[in-house]
Amino acid sequence: MLRASLLAAARSTRMRSLIETVPATRAVVGRFVAGSATEDAVRAVRELTEAGLRISLDHLGEDTTDARQADVTVQAYQAMLAALAAEGLASGADVSVKLSAVGRSLPVDGEKIALENARKICVSAAAMGATVTLDMEDHTTTDSTLGILRQLRVDFPWVGAVLQAYLRRTEQDCRDLSGAGSRVRLCKGAYSEPESVAYQEKSEVDRSYVRCLRILLEGNGYPMIASHDPRIIAIAEELIAETGRTADDHEFQMLYGIRPEEQRRIAAESRTMRVYVPYGDEWYGYFMRRLAERPANLTFFLRGLASKS
Ligand code: FDA
Repeated sequence: MLRASLLAAARSTRMRSLIETVPATRAVVGRFVAGSATEDAVRAVRELTEAGLRISLDHLGEDTTDARQADVTVQAYQAMLAALAAEGLASGADVSVKLSAVGRSLPVDGEKIALENARKICVSAAAMGATVTLDMEDHTTTDSTLGILRQLRVDFPWVGAVLQAYLRRTEQDCRDLSGAGSRVRLCKGAYSEPESVAYQEKSEVDRSYVRCLRILLEGNGYPMIASHDPRIIAIAEELIAETGRTADDHEFQMLYGIRPEEQRRIAAESRTMRVYVPYGDEWYGYFMRRLAERPANLTFFLRGLASKS
């Protein structure tokens, strides 16, 4: 109930202007978002890299309905990749891109524009030795994202995508994307989805995650295990051993600011741990999804507001 309300609020412009204008919000948001500017992102990447972690940078933004804004987002990715390269941090880095931030929601030719914009980001990433992963948004966009992925992979075979275990279709998508060269980030899923397309109970989502992960680990691609859930991580470790995977043919991933000690523990065991680092001013939707995932975050948020107001 609380999750559904927070996810509804994530899409509400009224709530957005209310929450964004509370001065103390920013301090709390800072736990999950690396900062506003490219320099903030570079600083966070430097710190994480020095701690033995890999990164995937996300320039925050979604549901853009303005073509100029989509261009600005592409330029932000390009500037960020150049800034990382200037510091020697781009090689092996990844960037995460939401297709709705680069034009897919535009009323005319949205998909075509998103494909072209994603292509520009891929060109820049390739020049810097970085990779690109397409984030997955709500279920109405899954086919479109996978279609754009297929087209990008013709020229950039290393482009990855996110699959969401809460969707009933995802086992089949995992089968389709478990071939050689394929990079799949498997997560549980963060949007409010109807029963007709998505499992609703946590236990069902977790079981689906394990089935999907088994398919990916038994395949020939590069699975990216994106979860903070200790049970999922323990099961993943068993499946990795069972399927004979080695340290360099899969990776673990977590979000910036969530279970940082666990991130370092996994990295210290010579395993790849990549941290998803969001930055930029358009943090509202991302932040609300993080609140929805864990009631304790809402308490933390409200306490932060109370102590600073
Ligand atoms: P679960 O939600 O069951 O949490 C397990 C435990 O992890 C909790 O008990 C708590 O300890 C910790 N935890 C989880 N979330 C927390 C939070 N917000 N704050 C504090 N602690 C928390 N989703 C999507 O729909 N599309 C996408 O493209 C992506 N991309 C993505 C990339 C990466 C690298 C990650 C790690 C996750 C995503 N997600 C995503 C989000 C994902 O779908 C999911 O909502 C969250 O990862 C939470 O699910 P967990 O697997 O962590 O388990």
